[in-house]
Amino acid sequence: MCGIFAYINYLTPKTRHEVLDLLVNGLKRLEYRGYDSTGVAIDATNTKDIVMLKSVGKVKVLEDSIAENLSGKEFDEPVLIHCGIAHTRWATHGVPCEKNSHPQRSDNDNSFIVVHNGIITNYKDVKTFLEKRGFVFESDTDTEVIAKLVHHLWKMHPGYSFRELVEQAIQQLEGAFAVAIKSRHFPGECVASRRGSPLLVGIKTKTRLATDHIPILYGKVLPRSESTSEFMPLEEKEVEYFFASDASAVIEHTNRVIYLEDDDVAAVRDGALSIHRLKKCTDDPHAREITTLKMEIQQIMKGNYDYFMLKEIFEQPESVVNTMRGRVRFESNSIVLGGIKDYIPEIKRCRRLMLIGCGTSYHSAVATRQLLEELTELPVMVELASDFLDRNTPIFRDDVCFFISQSGETADTLMALRYCKQRGALIVGITNTVGSSICRESHCGVHINAGPEIGVASTKAYTSQFISLVMFALVMSEDRLSLQQRRLEILQGLSTLADQIREVLKLDLKVQELAKDLYQHKSLLIMGRGYNFATCLEGALKVKELTYMHSEGIMAGELKHGPLALVDDSMPVLMIVLRDPVYIKCMNALQQVTSRKGCPIIICEEGDEETKSFSSRSLEIPRTVDCLQGILTVIPMQLLSYHIAVLRGCDVDCPRNLAKSVTVE
Ligand code: F6R
Repeated sequence: MCGIFAYINYLTPKTRHEVLDLLVNGLKRLEYRGYDSTGVAIDATNTKDIVMLKSVGKVKVLEDSIAENLSGKEFDEPVLIHCGIAHTRWATHGVPCEKNSHPQRSDNDNSFIVVHNGIITNYKDVKTFLEKRGFVFESDTDTEVIAKLVHHLWKMHPGYSFRELVEQAIQQLEGAFAVAIKSRHFPGECVASRRGSPLLVGIKTKTRLATDHIPILYGKVLPRSESTSEFMPLEEKEVEYFFASDASAVIEHTNRVIYLEDDDVAAVRDGALSIHRLKKCTDDPHAREITTLKMEIQQIMKGNYDYFMLKEIFEQPESVVNTMRGRVRFESNSIVLGGIKDYIPEIKRCRRLMLIGCGTSYHSAVATRQLLEELTELPVMVELASDFLDRNTPIFRDDVCFFISQSGETADTLMALRYCKQRGALIVGITNTVGSSICRESHCGVHINAGPEIGVASTKAYTSQFISLVMFALVMSEDRLSLQQRRLEILQGLSTLADQIREVLKLDLKVQELAKDLYQHKSLLIMGRGYNFATCLEGALKVKELTYMHSEGIMAGELKHGPLALVDDSMPVLMIVLRDPVYIKCMNALQQVTSRKGCPIIICEEGDEETKSFSSRSLEIPRTVDCLQGILTVIPMQLLSYHIAVLRGCDVDCPRNLAKSVTVE
């Protein structure tokens, strides 16, 4: 959705130039979350004022505007204590324009300014309340009510600390949000909070931190003068803090972070961080752990690639191995999934498995459903999270519900998780983001370990989700004698997968040539069935989102029931025809297409001359076990959508109207 980044330096001198560079760099790392407009705010020189600069478009536009408007000698003077906040937006309320960009302000003096990710669902009521008290609104955003509400409370409660004001304000707000707030009345301070949208605090000190946790304070707010003891200073005096929507924005500065929980209010004042919650429940923890990030800076850089997406496609030989690392033991043909092993007996007793997700994550469930049915011998339901919620689907205590999400923050998936949890089902998270909401709210789970995925279009996360679910199926069938041969075949397939992916990636130039044939067309039909139907859906989604071309994934078995009418000599068609149990049926479909003068591009197995002979254009992929074919067939589709997008002049990493993490329903 949107990206929040705030930087607070305490007794660590930084020029305003440096602060601005830090903020802009943080935004660049978060740009994948939203890229229609941006903004920064820092303290003005020699006054208590705050300078805000906003622009429409990507972070680069803001960077250029900063270079043009915020320069001069005074920007080179070091400041000892300072707080700057920044934002990259994916519009929900109001079109992308300067007045709707963040930070949003409380008044012309910038008394309180806020950057926000998420949606305030009761903003109209709050706005009416504030308008009656004389506040005049200037934007179309829901965010503006936050700044103005804090300002209103400040006028009403002159003795309150900044943290207390924000705490009072967020209690009035409904919806999902993460916010970071700065004020001219509380210079050098920053207050941040979250409910439903991700937010973390990065902590950087010169020496290693003396503590690995920050105590949580509960209870009533205290007047500012009495509340100093609430702050838990770290031993270090010189300290820098970062508030960010995602760890990728802070990793180049520090690997020590705290993932905030819903309704945490984190405040930085005088170089100390406090985390406060109004109410304490019996099982609430006493502290928030400081986590050490395992991420490497190279993982979030593009390296020699033009786009993150291309880099991530080419990373798949390594990312699939990382998903299996320490879990699949090829020597003993066994698999251990540490995150769920204690729950396996309970899962084996369940009534059914439900796999729930959105977009690409949903497709990984479609891709593995058949294998899960085969190896678990349980009914497996595959659900789009939004539709699942719309239907108020019945859920029972003996259901096991899997929530699949790269980001771990997708609102629909998270809502569906909470819905199932309330009904007593066992919740299993399959995510790529440690510390994400889905991770934290699941009873158990599998971290897919694909590494950070920055390109908005999901690629390596898909193949790693796929493998995670395959590994789960293998674990579930470990003690089934009748399935041992099948399990060995799959394990054998997994052991050669990375090399086979490398082989498929060598098709890149050929795929690029095919893209040249296709990029000027209006539509692309992608057909297949069985284990490869998911590739058709996923391929069509990639084509749509990246190239803005129409594309449809068609179940080949449905061809005669309608889609065949679309086929003629000018309709681009791609067909996946592999030597698996549905080969004959796929060949029938291929013949139906060619006999309507269709000229499909065929994805087939290496050396399959018979299938290839049906077309002048084909892509040959290595042979593997049927249930893993989908991993190899999806890669040409990822490459094809990438090359078509480049040829059509589309922004591959930031497709229009989309954002990486969809934290609103
Ligand atoms: C498509 C894509 C989206 C996501 C979907 C779910 O390339 O990336 O369809 O798969 O928004 O996101 P996560 O997996 O983060 O829940």
